[in-house]
Amino acid sequence: MSETQHLIGLLLGTEEDWPTAYEALVARVGPISYRGETHTLRTERIVNEPFDLRYKPRYSLVIDRLAWWYDLPRAWLKKVSLMDDVYLLNNPFTFQAMEKHSAYCALIRLGIRVPDTWLIPHKVPAPIPHFEYMAAKFPDVASRYNASFDLQEIGAALGYPLYMKPFDGGQWVGVSRIGSPEELRRTYDESGERMMHVQRALEDFEVFARSLSIGPETMVMKFRPERPMHDRYEVAHDFLSPELGSEIVTISQLVNAFFRWEFNSCETIVKDGVAYPIDYANASPDVALTSLHYYFPWAIAALVRWTAFCAISQRRMRLNQNTRDYFETGDREDVPYEDKLREYRKLSDAYFQVDEYRTFCGEQLPHLDELVVEYVESPEFDSLLVQTVVATFPPHEHEHFIAHFRGLLGAWAADQRAAAAATT
Ligand SMILES: Nc1ncnc2c1ncn2[C@@H]1O[C@H](COP(=O)(O)OP(=O)(O)O)[C@@H](O)[C@H]1O
Ligand SMILES: [Mg+2]
Repeated sequence: MSETQHLIGLLLGTEEDWPTAYEALVARVGPISYRGETHTLRTERIVNEPFDLRYKPRYSLVIDRLAWWYDLPRAWLKKVSLMDDVYLLNNPFTFQAMEKHSAYCALIRLGIRVPDTWLIPHKVPAPIPHFEYMAAKFPDVASRYNASFDLQEIGAALGYPLYMKPFDGGQWVGVSRIGSPEELRRTYDESGERMMHVQRALEDFEVFARSLSIGPETMVMKFRPERPMHDRYEVAHDFLSPELGSEIVTISQLVNAFFRWEFNSCETIVKDGVAYPIDYANASPDVALTSLHYYFPWAIAALVRWTAFCAISQRRMRLNQNTRDYFETGDREDVPYEDKLREYRKLSDAYFQVDEYRTFCGEQLPHLDELVVEYVESPEFDSLLVQTVVATFPPHEHEHFIAHFRGLLGAWAADQRAAAAATT
């Protein structure tokens, strides 16, 4: 039998926890037979180097956690996807459109309940050298076309409280809750060169859900934004009705299939039984062991499953979007919301090859679930947990947090064993 090797590249920032767990699991998976051939997956951390545009990369797939911030890896990702069919998580072309703004616009057109949102001009326009030249040549250009506007009117139209946040933001940077017209004025004055959205606030809600998607898999978790990082994901099951749970999964899958994102998280507020998505363009979603804890093994296993499927079945990356297919449904005024969601789910399931993926997981990776539990119970994982805590928290908290996370991961492993026993 012939053997094919697939090299998976990891394009990383400072993270050590999930890459180590991912590498360990890929190494444990071993050879996979698929359509009469044997496949092996290997992993490698990518270093940034100059490159000849005609060179052939060795990778068949790259998990990217860096290119949103840095030009060189972004340019490299564009080359390897355009020229060499390297499969990427995520698409670097729509990635640059991966600001909140495009995602809000697309979802609004598709009939999803995005809270009322306005884009307001920069308080201080960032200097653009080319424009300076233009402005010097035609001194009245800026004043001619930049309409003056009344911020207070926008505030009154949205109502208070509201949120001001960068149109392309992430990691809560520059996000403010605004309770009054005075605060709106002050916060806008302080926003400087960052262009901002203002958005109606949803408060006194029942549930804040954070859904992490990896390929066709989505985990909807109960989230406590007001708590410290390590305590935001609550271990909770059945906190949503099956309908709401499925709606949130569909919205998450829709965003990802629409933009060709494969590794992304989405935030949805449920108020009075209605789901309002507020944030769903997270280029490099949080998968830290110390924030996901109980859900960490699921995330790493899903990453192994999806990357194995893409590399081994030679799924081709779709560089172009099929926005029209979505708009055809989104633009129909006679189609109720629920029916639209069903149509979107069909499109996203087709995009993510859900049936083929399930078959692949069942036939090619039947041993993975057990492997993950064994790994999480191994001394190797425990030492990763200890190292991660040591790297994340101050010394006087190490002992407490090591016990805390050991408890959560132990509970996860016990739950898996119980579920496996119940199905046999
Ligand atoms: N419209 C809103 N209503 C209520 N809370 C909001 C709203 N927008 C943002 N928030 C709060 O602010 C946090 C950060 O805003 P978010 O849009 O998620 O930006 P980021 O991309 O920086 O995470 C959210 O997790 C939520 O707690
Ligand atoms: Mg957010």
